[in-house]
Amino acid sequence: MTVGKPNVLIIVADDLGFTDLGSFGAEIQTPNLDQLAESGLKFTSFHTASACSPTRSMLLSGTDNHLAGLGQMAEYARNFPEKFQGKPGYEGYLNYKVAALPEILSPEYYTLISGKWHLGLHEPYWPDKRGFEQSFTLLPGAGNHYKFDTSEKEFMPYLYQENGRRLDPEKELPDDFYSSSYFTDKFLSFLEDEQKRKGRPFFGLLTYTAPHWPLQAPEETIKKYKGVYDSGPLALRKQRLEKAADLGIITADTIPHLVETKDEKVWDELSAEEKTYSARKMETYAAMVDELDKNVGRVIEILKAKGELENTVIMFMSDNGAEGMLLEALPFGGTSFADKIGDKYNNELDNIGKGDSFVYYGDLWAQAATAPRHMYKMWATEGGINCPLIFHYPKLTREWAGGDTIEAFTTVMDILPTVLDITGVPHPGKYFKGREVYGVRGTSWSPFLQRRSKTIHDDNTVTGWELFGQRAIRKGFYKALYVPPPLGTGEWELYDLAQDLGETKNLSDVLPEVLKDLINHWSIYSAETGLIEVNEYPKGTKYHPQIIEDKH
Ligand SMILES: *[C@@H]1O[C@H](CO)[C@@H](O)[C@H](O)[C@H]1NC(C)=O
Repeated sequence: MTVGKPNVLIIVADDLGFTDLGSFGAEIQTPNLDQLAESGLKFTSFHTASACSPTRSMLLSGTDNHLAGLGQMAEYARNFPEKFQGKPGYEGYLNYKVAALPEILSPEYYTLISGKWHLGLHEPYWPDKRGFEQSFTLLPGAGNHYKFDTSEKEFMPYLYQENGRRLDPEKELPDDFYSSSYFTDKFLSFLEDEQKRKGRPFFGLLTYTAPHWPLQAPEETIKKYKGVYDSGPLALRKQRLEKAADLGIITADTIPHLVETKDEKVWDELSAEEKTYSARKMETYAAMVDELDKNVGRVIEILKAKGELENTVIMFMSDNGAEGMLLEALPFGGTSFADKIGDKYNNELDNIGKGDSFVYYGDLWAQAATAPRHMYKMWATEGGINCPLIFHYPKLTREWAGGDTIEAFTTVMDILPTVLDITGVPHPGKYFKGREVYGVRGTSWSPFLQRRSKTIHDDNTVTGWELFGQRAIRKGFYKALYVPPPLGTGEWELYDLAQDLGETKNLSDVLPEVLKDLINHWSIYSAETGLIEVNEYPKGTKYHPQIIEDKH
């Protein structure tokens, strides 16, 4: 293989929590990703949106989700048709006002995607229309990990496409289909298609649907974790916090946010049976992460065998915080999430993890993975938006030691400019393929990673977030946060993330000038992105958590 421009491989996990990898604090066995982290870099202040499709739109466009077409997740926007319907930036697919990364890189690069898309259900918005020369994707945001009742249309529809052709899943997905291994098979078959590749460097996106619910994994892998979670989620949280501190992922003196749960009973109050049932869900979750890691290992082995590993920039990230099922608290189309699961699945203890089971692990296990941060997916608190990222390209990062942590603030919008910078492909600017497109809001990491620059984003960089009515705006280490009732107070809060990653001390009274400045920046951000503010949750939203005091 000739060594020309580097290949780029971006691997995205779905709802993976911050400490779910061994190298970030987990007990889950992830040797392949740990090896990448130990010979690469671990980013600890990498930020995404608080939900999956908005993050993916930012990844592929380098700009804000409210510009790229995912101003809201469609499932939520439906509750406020008068506000969102037909509004620019709220198309519900990656819109044509942005130049997508694969569109920019192809045909100089061989562009391929395998896994979840979630950036447009309908054919004009499929990946083959956005620059991917090879694509195999699940179109919606989630799917059964095994092949089970492919006739299902509403709740978990089997919508797959391959290279612009809709698949008949019953006939075209193999009976032993398992998401992580099949997405990897497809990815590798594209990668090894030398006729299509024609000697070009590749840009690959491998977007696993694990460990997103429904929690499903092979029985023998679930068995590996039997007993590991018998002390419950609060004990796991403590163990993860300690290991993360030992690994330098967080500082030992970080004050974690208190745990909030919708559950009526916490671990100590559960019966032995209830404990076993809850632990089995977490064992299954761990098995999904374990399987994901094994499949990443397969890709790395192939790159090694082809002599291409050294010449491949690899990034591994999660798309948002761990999933604590806030969705469950929001009414969707008049029925609760539990009603939708209905009688179709068999959720008996021994069946959990199989293709005809449908479980999720709940807010306590999720907070074991997001701690010390506050809350999880769908929140604008750090638990929803601060995700793990591994960067592996030793050629570029020689000035760092393998396994170093990068604490600098970064966002998913930085990935597009970083990739263009490293590959030496220019952004098209304002016009692209006959249309007007937005510029990039992110910044390349390359100068910093080569130690030619001391910073990535300076202290005056302002970054905003908005989804599900929750708002956040950050400048330097100060972050203002707004959470409408009933989930929050509907008043701006202020945090200093340099001292308080857990967002435990509301400084809005103490530093009113700082808050005022951030609220001004919020208005600018809101105007620049054309985002539509919501001050309330859908009618009928209930949230009465109990707060668990930390006894440790
Ligand atoms: C933060 O402090 C402000 C000012 O005292 C108050 O209005 C707001 O409710 C506080 N928010 C939280 C979540 O404590």
